[in-house]
Amino acid sequence: MCGIIGYIGMDQAAPILLSGLEKLEYRGYDSAGIAVHNETGIQIVKATGRLKVLYNLTQGGASILGNAGIGHTRWGTHGESTDVNAHPHFNKDTSIAVVHNGIIENYIKLKKQLEAHGYKFLSQTDTEVIVQMLDYYYNGYPLETITKIMHFIEGSYALGIIFKNHPGEIYAVCKDSSLIVGQGSRGNFIASDVPAILKYTREICYLDNEDIVRLTDSGLTFYHNEEELKKAFVTVRMDLNAAEKGSYAHFMLKEMQEQPKAIADTMNPRLRDGSIVIKELGISDNKIRQIQKIYIVACGSAYHTGVTAKYIFEGLAQIPLEVDLASEFRYRNPILDRNTLVIVVSQSGETADSLAALRKAKANGGRVLGIVNVVESSIAREADNVMYTWAGPEIAVATTKAYSAQLIALYLLALKFSQVRGFLDAEKIACMVSNLQRLPEQISLLLSHKKDIQKIAHRYLKAEHIFFIGRGIDYGIALEGSLKLKEITYVHSEAYAAGELKHGTISLIENGRLVVAVLTQPFLYSKTISNIVEVKSRGAFVMAVTNVGNTEVEKVADYVIYIPETNLYFVNSLAVIPLQLFGYYLSIGKGLDVDKPRNLAKSVTVE
Ligand code: F6R
Repeated sequence: MCGIIGYIGMDQAAPILLSGLEKLEYRGYDSAGIAVHNETGIQIVKATGRLKVLYNLTQGGASILGNAGIGHTRWGTHGESTDVNAHPHFNKDTSIAVVHNGIIENYIKLKKQLEAHGYKFLSQTDTEVIVQMLDYYYNGYPLETITKIMHFIEGSYALGIIFKNHPGEIYAVCKDSSLIVGQGSRGNFIASDVPAILKYTREICYLDNEDIVRLTDSGLTFYHNEEELKKAFVTVRMDLNAAEKGSYAHFMLKEMQEQPKAIADTMNPRLRDGSIVIKELGISDNKIRQIQKIYIVACGSAYHTGVTAKYIFEGLAQIPLEVDLASEFRYRNPILDRNTLVIVVSQSGETADSLAALRKAKANGGRVLGIVNVVESSIAREADNVMYTWAGPEIAVATTKAYSAQLIALYLLALKFSQVRGFLDAEKIACMVSNLQRLPEQISLLLSHKKDIQKIAHRYLKAEHIFFIGRGIDYGIALEGSLKLKEITYVHSEAYAAGELKHGTISLIENGRLVVAVLTQPFLYSKTISNIVEVKSRGAFVMAVTNVGNTEVEKVADYVIYIPETNLYFVNSLAVIPLQLFGYYLSIGKGLDVDKPRNLAKSVTVE
């Protein structure tokens, strides 16, 4: 969740490090720091707060001279956001500096051992044990020293390390935390993510677990257990401007507007003459017929796509489907075999719990399909097969377009499975595909009504609690609407299966409380309407999201948002749009930083 960058080459390092950190700030933004080799040794500057504080402190990097350095933007795991806890961390005489992403799980034990040897710790972080251990074992040979300490540290880490006595070198290593190496014409790089160095190079190498790399201004040497090894580079094709905000006020607004394109790009390459072709699935039709159970395992919004997909797979393909949170799945003992398909859904492809769940699924004998947005990310590389969502880079912490693209990928899979298993004939599939193809234009239409949603959001700027209710697929939509709202507005919110509210939570409904009710499934309309009446009679203000034509709802709800007509299995893609807009406008109406909400980070690479 922290961002790491390193550069060594012909140019001044500090401005390059800062520009890389700017692209990585979505991974964490409570403090930032850089360490640069120069004539005085290693110069370290760190600052609490957003990157701009560090930027101003160093005059955009101009005040720090030197051609090699490492940088970090932090999402704290151990210790609050302070200058001392900010990275890089360093040893007593500032001869070694380290930046770290991940968690050192046995840091308390290691810290005690080092303290017994007289080491004093300045920070509350787990990272500081790494630099103190490097200091303790340092014998003049960085590679040997790094390899040695790797035997003692437990947990996940991506590290960038510089040694004062080796001014022409940067070292980096990773375990269960991704790190890339870039080879440019004017120098070499390490980074947590491709956009950080895309301005300088497209030649990228992905480090594997426990690989170490030594960077100089003219070369890269890779090692594993101190043995030199050759690594392959790939040329990445990512669009440099795709990760820019352009004329939009916020990334979140831009990404919401990009949803029609994200879903068209995810869907179109997989549609052929009204049927579904998913080449990368890697599962024969025969195998699809043999699948007895599907698990969808994910976190946060990606998990919510699974909640919706459960209804669709069970309804269309009649396969039992269990949805689980990756953080739970990884620590239980799921019963899997080769006829169990485990679908791991992830935008970043780096979420620590989802990656661990993937490994658990494989270890327990399941077959894993990744639905992933970031190409060549860890989940994409480790899954048996990967189906990419082509949403492009998503920068705002709150996901919108990646979530929408994940839904589309799951619809396509469900249709494919249904067709192969003989539940839908070609004519029915073609009709559903034509519904899918209309979604981009229908989403654009919903987005064009954003001012109406802004008006309602402004009425609720002072709300302290907002509830979301829905049944079936609508419950999945409610979960996502509620998460979107709470993460960017800091308003307490809960999503409830509408029928469950009366089993306790309805006690929280009182005069003026906003309840957002989602009703898109005609066979459940009357049930959810009863639940609306229940909250209305306790004083709630009800905003309903329903299908065009369902005017009955106007009799019970205070405000109704209509979504265009589509197949009932695909309504989530439409109903979620006003809910995303509602969260967005409430957040900016409150003057919050909608793209970088407090306490969060985009890529959750720690447990
Ligand atoms: C919410 C949000 C998160 C992510 C979750 C999983 O807006 O973005 O809940 O959905 O952290 O992340 P990925 O999809 O990268 O595995």
